[in-house]
Amino acid sequence: MCGIIGMVSKDDFTIQDAFKKLKKLEYRGYDSFGYFDKELLIKKTGHILIPKTKKLTRMAILHSRWATHGGVTDKNAHPHQSCDRNITIVHNGIIENYAELKNSLQKKGHRFSSETDSEVVAHYFEEKVKKKTMKQACVDFIKEIKGTFAILVMKNDDDCIYALKRDSPLVIGPSKRSNILASDIYAFSDLTDKAVFFDNDEFAVVDSEKYTFYNELGKPIKKTVQRFRWEQEESLKKKFKHYMIKEIMEEPIVVKRLLFSLKTEQKDNFERLIRLIKKQEKIVFVAAGTSYHASLLGVYYLHKCGVEAQALIASEFENFAFLDEKSLVIPISQSGETMDLIEALKYAKEHKAKIASVVNVPYSTIQRMSDVSLNIMAGQEICVAATKSFVNQVTILLSIAKEFGFKVNLDTLPTRIESVLGQKNKIKKIAKSISKKNDMYVLGRGLSYPVAREVALKIKEISYIHAEGMMGGELKHGTIALIEKGTPVISLISNKDHDMLSNTKEVEARGAKIIMITNSMPGDIRLQTSNDGKFGILATIFGQLLTYYIALERKLPIDKPRNLAKSVTVK
Ligand code: F6R
Repeated sequence: MCGIIGMVSKDDFTIQDAFKKLKKLEYRGYDSFGYFDKELLIKKTGHILIPKTKKLTRMAILHSRWATHGGVTDKNAHPHQSCDRNITIVHNGIIENYAELKNSLQKKGHRFSSETDSEVVAHYFEEKVKKKTMKQACVDFIKEIKGTFAILVMKNDDDCIYALKRDSPLVIGPSKRSNILASDIYAFSDLTDKAVFFDNDEFAVVDSEKYTFYNELGKPIKKTVQRFRWEQEESLKKKFKHYMIKEIMEEPIVVKRLLFSLKTEQKDNFERLIRLIKKQEKIVFVAAGTSYHASLLGVYYLHKCGVEAQALIASEFENFAFLDEKSLVIPISQSGETMDLIEALKYAKEHKAKIASVVNVPYSTIQRMSDVSLNIMAGQEICVAATKSFVNQVTILLSIAKEFGFKVNLDTLPTRIESVLGQKNKIKKIAKSISKKNDMYVLGRGLSYPVAREVALKIKEISYIHAEGMMGGELKHGTIALIEKGTPVISLISNKDHDMLSNTKEVEARGAKIIMITNSMPGDIRLQTSNDGKFGILATIFGQLLTYYIALERKLPIDKPRNLAKSVTVK
């Protein structure tokens, strides 16, 4: 959450150039934004507006905020400045001991102008540089600050940016006459395919020609320059009205690309992962939100072929996981940066478990923490709601289960997906018929239970309608009391599941408006597959389209729903 950018160049660039980079990180948080270049300071609430000015500069820091401490106001927007305005900072993360620090700085006469934890950083450096160099101040900062941070600091009389990192992501995109600092590689993937990632408790001094990294003791360290590959054309919206629908429509292509990679460039890693599953005694998936629903499907598929596994929610991992050196932890994540997962993986490492991740963003923190990692190859996903990344996560899990005997022909998956996309007009009509409802329920059993939860999550986050995804069998143990005449109930029935059909009939008898998604019975939408594995993916895609069209009908901000951010980098 929060996107940060720092640019330092030998040549002039326009403020608009800098804002265009920030715009690429807006999906990380979009409550407010800000800019500083030693002369101009901008702090504003709302989505990023690219200023009209043609003003030039050679150094700037920028921020796109997802509020944690302090409401969404211009004052709380970053950058924050010291009392003397000599120090300006942007921060992603949480300073846990900010209250104590603020207190002691206030006693020394510092005046604060925001309610944020981040402002303390500017005053901290102001105080330190009275007696020390910026480099020494960075060493002290890493020692004395509790919490998580990716921070960029500008000092008015220095021609460099100081960058510090713990847990929140930070990377440099180096090029000949400039260096860009950013929360992730998307910001500069159109300029360079080189990246230097910060590790925890490192800092760097970055000017237009070079960057020097230091460890927590202030000793210079060597860093490796990584080359990354990124499908740049996919981040362009092309002919679609929203990224969400563009990304859903890309699903057949990204599935094909993934399946091909598992037989070619990712073959070795795929085989290593299979060997690890065979060798380790305990398999534990860990994920959050949509990715958790994918991992529940993973558990289902593996159980069907006799491999025991469990799936845990990342934020509760420590409370429910029992791990040792015979365990294999499989984190599933689109961003590869979700803080709850990173914490869970630290716990897994402490307990000597092996880690085999499934992620979308190459070189993300979670990928770098893993013993082996598979890339889901979905390409950049900009809409906050995960769609094509979920499809590819599940496709990888099906490919894994297939190695253990799960029967599925994945070669036909792209055309089966196209057949759901081809029913979009029918789905649009269903969406229209329920778009004014306040509550809805999605029911599933077995493989369609995780799908029910995923469809309900999509409906909540994008359409702003209360939706519950439930096990069909669990409904009569309480929730059925909420079913009234006309309450929409989406029922996901795979392969003549008679119990699921009975649960559907039970709510229909109480007046519910049933929307039946099946592959083997008459229903509102018929999915073209007799395979349970593929049913999971196709039924989810139905839900993605349904959500999109409901939100369109309700005129909602589809790609950037309120209160959310794409990358959840706080606990
Ligand atoms: C919902 C959604 C979220 C993410 C969750 C985990 O559409 O995208 O629920 O799935 O925040 O994020 P990743 O997969 O990046 O770890």
